Amino acid sequence: MPVFALVGNKGGAGKTTLAMNLAAALARRGATAVVDADPQGSALQWRAFIRDDRAPPVFAPQDGGLGDQVAELRRRYANLVIDCPPSVHAAATDAALRAVDLVLIPVQPSPVDLWATVHIERAVTEARVVNPGLVATLVINQLEPRTTLSRLMREALAELELPVAATAIRRRAVYRNTALEGRTVYDAGRRGAAAAAEVDELISEVINS
Ligand SMILES: Nc1ncnc2c1ncn2[C@@H]1O[C@H](COP(=O)(O)OP(=O)(O)O)[C@@H](O)[C@H]1O
Ligand SMILES: [Mg+2]
Repeated sequence: MPVFALVGNKGGAGKTTLAMNLAAALARRGATAVVDADPQGSALQWRAFIRDDRAPPVFAPQDGGLGDQVAELRRRYANLVIDCPPSVHAAATDAALRAVDLVLIPVQPSPVDLWATVHIERAVTEARVVNPGLVATLVINQLEPRTTLSRLMREALAELELPVAATAIRRRAVYRNTALEGRTVYDAGRRGAAAAAEVDELISEVINS
């Protein structure tokens, strides 16, 4: 399995939500861990809510740097997910782009948010100098169930250099509600089934890309 990083240039895009749900999905396939590379520590807080030994552990960044930490964790875990700070100019994001295989960039379905991804495109291009195999994909998050993407959105998407995953993540209360309890949509039974299905679909899509 590739090492995943959730990257973006603003808060509230859904990086931590996607990181934790992705980790829960991957944990069903093999040993999985999360590294919380965001100084805000949302993923660590999320994990601190529950004392469920089966949930993937969340590690704080280690002093020696993210590159070494990823190399070390790769030996112990089949799957790794790195949650990054909300800036592509942060050192942690830079380190993640150099250390991982697959970058997912959640964006809200608004042209303004998409235009802001130009900085991410640049950071990905720079990281590819040292990490040539890096795959980077935008993921539309918080898509409204009953609205289709507007014409403006389609035009904005067509302008981007980075590919956009065909699988979008919808805006669903279950993502927020499960986070409140430090859980994920995989713990929500039937209430979380549609959300879990879209996260699984996203994983299948990006690992086959
Ligand atoms: N698909 C979604 N549906 C509903 N709420 C979501 C969804 N994705 C994220 N959220 C909510 O949006 C807010 C910001 O998400 P978060 O994952 O913290 O973003 P980031 O880590 O990029 O700052 C949180 O309150 C989260 O619960
Ligand atoms: Mg976050």
